[in-house]
Amino acid sequence: MSKAKRAIGIFDSGIGGISVLKEMHRLFPHEDLIYFGDSKFAPYGEKLRSEIMARCTEICEFLISKGVKAIVIACNTATSAAVDMLRERYPNLPIIGMEPALKPAIQQSRSHYVAVMATPFTLSEKKFSDLMKKHQENNTIIKIPCPQLVQIAEHNELDDIAKIHDQLHQYFDEVDQDKLDAVVLGCTHFIFFKKHIQGILKDSVRIIDGNEGTCRHLMDILRERNEINDAETKGSVMIYNSSKEDDILELSYELFQKEL
Ligand code: DGL
Repeated sequence: MSKAKRAIGIFDSGIGGISVLKEMHRLFPHEDLIYFGDSKFAPYGEKLRSEIMARCTEICEFLISKGVKAIVIACNTATSAAVDMLRERYPNLPIIGMEPALKPAIQQSRSHYVAVMATPFTLSEKKFSDLMKKHQENNTIIKIPCPQLVQIAEHNELDDIAKIHDQLHQYFDEVDQDKLDAVVLGCTHFIFFKKHIQGILKDSVRIIDGNEGTCRHLMDILRERNEINDAETKGSVMIYNSSKEDDILELSYELFQKEL
């Protein structure tokens, strides 16, 4: 099979990366997509780097065995922990990572007061402090570690509005609401909470994620390599998960279809 016809592999610690899968399918419907969610081992956000690296390697081996032409790490946490190692290990495979979309948030902010929601791991990593340093001058950047939101999503509690709102208030009640005008979703699981986050903040606060930018970045790379699928039919979408819980695949396909 020509490289261009091969699938794109996408993975996350669990169901969060389904938000990236969805965006990829919306923007590039002709590409075949293979998704792997590592829900058995989620959350990554409170794990050791070595544990995350080992999981990422195993998942990449699985995706490569499926013949993928590129891999998207649809997880900010796994990117912080493992992207450099994975690129070194698979030098001929395009590997696209994700990082909190702080730059666009700062560019759009008028008050220069922005919050970044992410996992404790992402926020404590050097990659993130380097990113923060680049943008810190003249800006106030509030770090909000949100491990509970990952658990709510992984436990299929996305309909528990009271629990979600209670949690969000705990994160945001301390933040100066008069100044805040941009929030970065620095974890792919959080896209599923976007409406709720917007709901507890002022309408003027922008909620920003890196999903579209990540998908477009990958396609630029594939275009340069002449590896875009030019099929006229819609691409296929396959979802795998390490958890053997019955409802995890059902939930994954449901989220894939869901209006966000
Ligand atoms: N979805 C992942 C991210 O973007 C992390 C969730 C987890 O803690 O496993 O960071």
